[in-house]
Amino acid sequence: MRQHLLTIESLTRAELEGYLLSAHNFVEVSTRDLKKVPALRGKTVINLFLEPSTRTRTSFEIAGKRLSADVINISGASSSVVKGETLHDTARTLEAMAPDVLVVRHAESGAPVQLARWLSRTSVVNAGDGMHEHPTQALLDLLTLLDHFGGGAPHTDLAALQNRTIAIVGDVRHSRVARSNIWAHLRLGNRVRLVGPPTLVPATLADPATWGGEHGVEVVHDLRSGIEGADIVMCLRLQLERQKEMFIPSATEYSREFCLSEAVLRQVAPSAVVLHPGPANRGVEISSEVLDGPRSLARAQVTHGVAVRMAVLFALGASAREESIAERIERDVR
Ligand code: NCD
Repeated sequence: MRQHLLTIESLTRAELEGYLLSAHNFVEVSTRDLKKVPALRGKTVINLFLEPSTRTRTSFEIAGKRLSADVINISGASSSVVKGETLHDTARTLEAMAPDVLVVRHAESGAPVQLARWLSRTSVVNAGDGMHEHPTQALLDLLTLLDHFGGGAPHTDLAALQNRTIAIVGDVRHSRVARSNIWAHLRLGNRVRLVGPPTLVPATLADPATWGGEHGVEVVHDLRSGIEGADIVMCLRLQLERQKEMFIPSATEYSREFCLSEAVLRQVAPSAVVLHPGPANRGVEISSEVLDGPRSLARAQVTHGVAVRMAVLFALGASAREESIAERIERDVR
């Protein structure tokens, strides 16, 4: 078992399966009356969130608490980072308190990898770094899709998810969610289409060299042909906070061409399911009819987010023990 979870790019298919199988078991814990297992009793989890977050931060906190870990939350505004402390000094301060797991969200791509180099006795989890990766988001998206395509039955492999076409629509350029999902679906051998205006979905993203030589990424600059026949449509938020120059004329113009509507889905991808990582800009990248409608898996994504983060904290927080994940689940969860 690896010490850290930093990217999906670095995970093997077997590792992806391991996390999903474990998460599948944890879904049930959250349906119990007493939603707590003793798996991480005596362990400390620090959530260091130096960028805004609702879902990810809350679900890591809930996940840690449901595993009985001691959870400490530090957010940007309340940390010494605003007083000018460097990331290295923050790392040294935190390490001196001996946390078992450090969950980090940071505006700079690569910050969690850097922290992992500095911290020798702590497991680091990337909860979203700049425009780079958001591995737990991709895992919860996979779990949601596995649940949907597998009809809710328990799964031990990813077969139910294979041979699918996923269209990722919107601000791919700035999206760590997109990058982690592209790696995940390429690893499964799925077809990936990236859909949006050329400024937000540059043609270079179709170059196999961008994805370690793996083929299967297509770039399409038109919504209708981009989502045509897709099994899965993932809608991304316009990341206006990361756009240092103007990549689109205005949100209104963008929505005229790329807002995902029920009408267009019905015409070209009638059986597609829709994912959105949230937070959503209703009427900009997705219509309320789609987001709140029957093909949307957005609520299930949030629910699965807790289970996936339990699986990740469990795997890393208890990694000192010489047992397999299956053995530990048997002992600590059942
Ligand atoms: C995403 C993020 O922060 O990367 N949100 C999330 O974690 N659920 C996507 C976004 O901000 O648009």
